[in-house]
Amino acid sequence: MAKSRATAPGKIILFGEHAVVYGRPAIAAPVTQVRATAVVEDGEKDDILLRAPDLGRESWFSRTPKNEPFARAVDLVLESSSLPNLPNLIITVNSTIPIASGLGSGAAMAAAVIRALARHLRLTGLTSDSKVSELTYQVETILHGTPSGIDNTVVAYEKPVFFVRQEPQNRIETFSVAQPLRLLIADSGKPSMTKDVVGDVRRRWQEEPAKFNRLFDECGRIAQTARLQIESGDLNEIGKLMLENQALLREMTVSTPELESLIDVAISAGALGAKLSGAGRGGNMIALVDQRLENHVKEELLKVGARQVFSSVIT
Ligand code: PMV
Repeated sequence: MAKSRATAPGKIILFGEHAVVYGRPAIAAPVTQVRATAVVEDGEKDDILLRAPDLGRESWFSRTPKNEPFARAVDLVLESSSLPNLPNLIITVNSTIPIASGLGSGAAMAAAVIRALARHLRLTGLTSDSKVSELTYQVETILHGTPSGIDNTVVAYEKPVFFVRQEPQNRIETFSVAQPLRLLIADSGKPSMTKDVVGDVRRRWQEEPAKFNRLFDECGRIAQTARLQIESGDLNEIGKLMLENQALLREMTVSTPELESLIDVAISAGALGAKLSGAGRGGNMIALVDQRLENHVKEELLKVGARQVFSSVIT
């Protein structure tokens, strides 16, 4: 029997998390070393078996609540098809992307399922990057509440993107990377629930709008400058901008002592810049490193308690 397969990468936010929810520019990039993979094959029952062996989960689509993200991704594709009955299928998802760590595992799972299922059902109108991104966004609303749209965009397009949330259509621009960005991604060991952190930042913004609008404006300006520096290849300047962005995230109260200690250690070991990436209050931090110092910085991060450190090069 024919199988259809699709994968989607993890992602990091290089600049502008949180501020991006409020319409300021942000930059994100795919992390291709970690991926979610979905495989669709024909089954034998008039139903769809949803399998996530990594999570020890298996359920029939017809009996799964449609606000469960895996079922929602499948449901969105079926809604867009004109199939009279539920097809007989088995969909298996595997992922090497750490969960609840700011690496976009939920978005990648949804994008892989949507693309693989659309391919299997030959729904060619659903397989474009923009359509996969749009449907993934709808799944993200379950996971994130009020997502900016940057996660689904970067995992569906698999390219670094400059992103602005706006009506009627988000601004999505790809850009050139003059000097490869060598990043170490270090897990602080604390899970981070994006929906809760985004909700808490919103409450604080409502309590202190002037302060938070200023912080968001500064993040937006940093993302804009960073894009120019990435296009011209000034790694030292990019590193400095990461530290400036981190100071603003700290003021937003989304950093943690664990993230701060990883950042301090990375800088003392010679990283050009470092910051948390994603929602914060846990999850991962990213450090920009020169190739010669990469192993040294990695060892120091592990010594100070990083759960896992891997490298990713953005080109
Ligand atoms: O925690 P993550 O990696 O899903 O990133 C969330 C990024 C935020 O800017 C905090 C929220 C959003 O939807 O953009």
